[in-house]
Amino acid sequence: MRRIKTLHDLCRQPSLVTTMLSILAGSLLASLAAAQQIGTFTPEVHPPITYQTCEAWKGCTTQQGSVTLDANYRWLHTASGQTCNPSGFNKTLCPDATTCGETCALDGADYAGTYGVTTNGSAVDIVFGSGGARIYLLDDTGKNYVNFKVMNQEFTFDIDVSNVPCAYNGALYFSEMPVDGGLSATNAAGAAYGTGYCDSQCPTGINFINGTTNVNGSLGSCCNEMDIWEANSLDTQLTPHPCNLTTGDFVCEGASCDNLCDPSGCEFNPFRVSSQSFYGRGSSNVVDTTKVMTVVTQFITDNGAADGTLSAIKRFYVQDGKVIPNSVVTLAGLPEVNDITSDYCTAKMTVLDDSTAFNVHGGLAQMGESLARGAVLVMSLWDDLAGDMSWLDGLEGTAGQPGTLRGPCTPANATSDPSTSVTFSNIRVGDLNSTFTQVKFGQCGGQFYTGPTLCADPSTCVFSNPYYSQCL
Ligand SMILES: *[C@@H]1O[C@H](CO)[C@@H](O)[C@H](O)[C@H]1NC(C)=O
Ligand SMILES: *[C@@H]1O[C@H](CO)[C@@H](O)[C@H](O)[C@H]1NC(C)=O
Ligand SMILES: *[C@@H]1O[C@H](CO)[C@@H](O)[C@H](O)[C@H]1NC(C)=O
Ligand SMILES: *[C@@H]1O[C@H](CO)[C@@H](O)[C@H](O)[C@H]1NC(C)=O
Ligand SMILES: *[C@@H]1O[C@H](CO)[C@@H](O)[C@H](O)[C@H]1NC(C)=O
Ligand SMILES: *[C@@H]1O[C@H](CO)[C@@H](O)[C@H](O)[C@H]1NC(C)=O
Ligand SMILES: *[C@@H]1O[C@H](CO)[C@@H](O)[C@H](O)[C@H]1NC(C)=O
Repeated sequence: MRRIKTLHDLCRQPSLVTTMLSILAGSLLASLAAAQQIGTFTPEVHPPITYQTCEAWKGCTTQQGSVTLDANYRWLHTASGQTCNPSGFNKTLCPDATTCGETCALDGADYAGTYGVTTNGSAVDIVFGSGGARIYLLDDTGKNYVNFKVMNQEFTFDIDVSNVPCAYNGALYFSEMPVDGGLSATNAAGAAYGTGYCDSQCPTGINFINGTTNVNGSLGSCCNEMDIWEANSLDTQLTPHPCNLTTGDFVCEGASCDNLCDPSGCEFNPFRVSSQSFYGRGSSNVVDTTKVMTVVTQFITDNGAADGTLSAIKRFYVQDGKVIPNSVVTLAGLPEVNDITSDYCTAKMTVLDDSTAFNVHGGLAQMGESLARGAVLVMSLWDDLAGDMSWLDGLEGTAGQPGTLRGPCTPANATSDPSTSVTFSNIRVGDLNSTFTQVKFGQCGGQFYTGPTLCADPSTCVFSNPYYSQCL
């Protein structure tokens, strides 16, 4: 995630009518004296979503989860329904952190109506509307985030980016957030209300950090971040962002926020480092973004076990029943690779004159230590029309310098489109090669079967009966 906008202004309040009706209905905020309270104008009903955990040979098991909206996007209000942060915090209601916490409550979200977030089975769809959304995957208790541990594993999902234009970003990534959202005596809301966000930009726009109201934006919330997917239909990027941190989230203040993390990361953007016709709209591209695709990301370790050192991040796509390896890097001076390794990152810094921050902050090994502890899954749809998303999809830096062109978009292409939408579905995590291909002799089809339908080379899927097909 790069250059995320200040988050103060992202929250959206319901219409006046809804507010008045709720007040008449007598719902008031919980009378806790703790900070970061829960409001009850809108009941919090997490949209349900399924995901799968997969094992080589055994296949995939469906898990029930749900999504929750990030706390910053929620309506924060007083008992009488006055917004506490109409444009930054109201200094009368929030003169200091304690008063603000006691006065203001985070409310439930109208997912479909206000935020354009709907789920159906294994799919979640976000329509941008007036400001997009950022959501997290909750486990079956609805009170904790799913803690993904992907070392020596792969993470797979299907995505439809066909309706995501220039300057918009439909992102899916891991942040090492607290699994309970930082639930504490000073945070009654917790993961159920989407608290605890942190990332490698150490964002200072988060309203509540570790139970403290960030009244003047002096606090930042830092953690290791693994961007599996930042993309629109024109461009895509895969990026580890390590921090010096050896534990989860870290609250920084002022100068202590500097140089703690690598905000740029060691990115793999095919358009920039490899081919301009690998990923894009239409069949002239290897991966055609006008159609749904499966995105596979593998976290390879040096010892072939989860306790090893992260040595490579590999990417595959599956589209129209074909496995498509990632684009091969063709930059002069780089060894031919199509994955993120330490050599790739070091060579890219030299050849493209990129920041060395990735290595300064421990590089892939440090990223791997964070992933081994576990991370929370974040999905979002955001835009940067004014600030520009050129680091992802356009001209970043001085034209003519090596590697400044990241994608085909120009500022003229950055136009507002509230109907922009992204759909993530079929989230799977498991043993290497278990989420998108089946081993020889394994099942690859049949009624009620939900595992991978592609067979690993050289076997093919052979129909046996309506309930069973097998890789032979
Ligand atoms: C801040 O809150 C006070 C007290 O309720 C109110 O009088 C004032 O209008 C609010 N300011 C803004 C900018 O909303
Ligand atoms: C949910 O998905 C199912 C299966 O793909 C589809 O048949 C159904 O129409 C969808 N429901 C909605 C409300 O979109
Ligand atoms: C911001 O708020 C914190 C906590 O209330 C306080 O310690 C700090 O001095 C404030 N900083 C500024 C610049 O007002
Ligand atoms: C959050 O606050 C608690 C005490 O309220 C403290 O023990 C903990 O270290 C803090 N966490 C972070 C990440 O600063
Ligand atoms: C992070 O670690 C690197 C390497 O040890 C060091 O140069 C840098 O100063 C550290 N940053 C902070 C904020 O401690
Ligand atoms: C950007 O705008 C130019 C000029 O209108 C147009 O030719 C081009 O196709 C647009 N590119 C994208 C990716 O939308
Ligand atoms: C996964 O599949 C690839 C390509 O077929 C193969 O090279 C690799 O060894 C497999 N890895 C495992 C752990 O099965």
